[in-house]
Amino acid sequence: CGIVGYIGKRDTQSVLIEGLKKLEYRGYDSAGIAVYTKDGLKITKATGRLANLEHKLEDAPLVGSAGIGHTRWATHGKPSDVNSHPHTDSSKKFSVVHNGIVENYLELKDELISQGYEFVSETDTEVISHLVAREYDGDIVKAVQKAISYMRGAFALGVLTEYEPDKLVAVRQASPLIIGIGEGENFIGSDIPALLNYTRRVYILNDGEMAVLTKDAVELMTIEGNFISREMINVDWDAVTAEKGGFAHFMLKEIHEQPRAYRDTMLGRIDESGRRIILPDLHLTDEKIRSINNVHIVACGTAFHAGLVGGAVIERLVRIPVMCDVASEYRYRSPLITPDTLVIVVSQSGETADTLAALREAQANGAHVLAITNVVGSSIARDADDVISTLAGPEIAVASTKAYTSQLIAFYLFSLYLAQVRGTQSAEEIAHVIAAMHALPEQVESILANVDAIKAYAEHIAKHEDLFFIGRGLDYAVALEGSLKLKEISYIHSEAYAAGELKHGTLALIEEDVPVIALATQESVLEKTVSNIKEVKARGADVMALTHEEHVTDLLKSVDQAFAIPKTLPILTPALSVVPLQLLAYYASLARGNDVDKPRNLAKSVTVE
Ligand code: G6P
Repeated sequence: CGIVGYIGKRDTQSVLIEGLKKLEYRGYDSAGIAVYTKDGLKITKATGRLANLEHKLEDAPLVGSAGIGHTRWATHGKPSDVNSHPHTDSSKKFSVVHNGIVENYLELKDELISQGYEFVSETDTEVISHLVAREYDGDIVKAVQKAISYMRGAFALGVLTEYEPDKLVAVRQASPLIIGIGEGENFIGSDIPALLNYTRRVYILNDGEMAVLTKDAVELMTIEGNFISREMINVDWDAVTAEKGGFAHFMLKEIHEQPRAYRDTMLGRIDESGRRIILPDLHLTDEKIRSINNVHIVACGTAFHAGLVGGAVIERLVRIPVMCDVASEYRYRSPLITPDTLVIVVSQSGETADTLAALREAQANGAHVLAITNVVGSSIARDADDVISTLAGPEIAVASTKAYTSQLIAFYLFSLYLAQVRGTQSAEEIAHVIAAMHALPEQVESILANVDAIKAYAEHIAKHEDLFFIGRGLDYAVALEGSLKLKEISYIHSEAYAAGELKHGTLALIEEDVPVIALATQESVLEKTVSNIKEVKARGADVMALTHEEHVTDLLKSVDQAFAIPKTLPILTPALSVVPLQLLAYYASLARGNDVDKPRNLAKSVTVE
């Protein structure tokens, strides 16, 4: 979910709607705003996309000097008007927007019901409105502080009351919240882009902190009420980089931004001779690096898939045992972490709740945590012991592309750095990999310059409901990502299998004309992969192979069609082979008439467990 708030001289409704447009990527099951108008606090909400809310507001605008807004990704309670935010209490004098989860809401709800409070929705948020109303005794700040003292969980809140319309109260407890500073106006938002149209001056709240905004001032305090001071940050990125720049969709734009993202992520991290990696901001000392005896890589979704590639590369170049885990599993399985474990968390947004919790679990067990993240100032970036920022720039499309490939680049840089410090690769070998990395951006450009064949193939698979990806080694890791990309935006059911494993059950699903996408770039296992291709061919599969030019002719003896990607070192191949698969997902989604940038049921940033 995403929240915004405004207090000041502008047309509140349009500030809220503009902010929500920027936050729609966080969820779009429903949206709503509450505005303090001359007739008191008024709320308008609508299920579905933000456009539905805008429609309603065109007929009946909310005019006023302060307001809060919300775009929802359903967790508690199905998407519906009544479950949409803002929520209010029975007197309708208080209004709350909330991102996160109140874990003990059922307990609190029972208590409030027994005290005579009436609930209209199934949400945990409505509990907050009633609690604030119950605790209100002429001071909204104190009422909010009391209300949250009963609440457990992760949340960010914006609260407005008709009794004190000159105040907007904001709280951050383990869900992101930014305060924007203007002249005669102030803002709150779940992230910086939501505010960039209006201000570049922001405060980032920490967990357990709150802010009281009037149009002329912002007071920051802990949730216990102790005043705090914070340095104001001046944001220097350009709001227009977040716009589509001539592309039909953000996803296509972001796919095309990959060459630049690769270059930017490498910039300043390779010395001028091109022979050494330099990571100047790293706190990890050489001594500490030499003492690491195992690595855990923890992440969710696409970032996890980047971790699978990163883990394999670290093992290969540094010969340290690596384990990769999805964050929601890691945190609950009491992983074996010692002070000599290096934990690498990977997160585009830096806000994913499960990944953040895994980071804390690792730190609590004494591990050094390195984060690979795309958002400077995000919760994960701030809490980790070390950060390697990917410099992909803001990623808006829900399906991650340039963030994933930049994460691969970050892993290559870091693996080489470990190899350099621990002496597991020679200076020549390191220089050799670096030279190949420098060539990657142009190689990606060459893939992007020839999309016709992949587009035609996408239109072909768009007619199918099931398909399979197979591959071995790093090809398998990329197959997992290609399959996820396709599922999330085309809604075609797809499974990625380690090519050699398919025969142990799943082969039963292969029949006449089932599309199978075989990744065959890893020379050391190419022959084995070809045997597996033959197994599916023999069952009637329609096989497309992704490989290097030099193998196309040979492979065409076994497959129906083949696409070539430029040649690079085997460990770097994922940074190229994933690109046609991203395009495949994009064009398949387009061919099916789906909303490419905003696939159903998904959210860009998941700040709940
Ligand atoms: C969501 C997104 C995925 C993303 C995952 C992890 O589910 O839809 O695309 O891979 O979260 O996000 P993160 O920001 O931690 O990389």
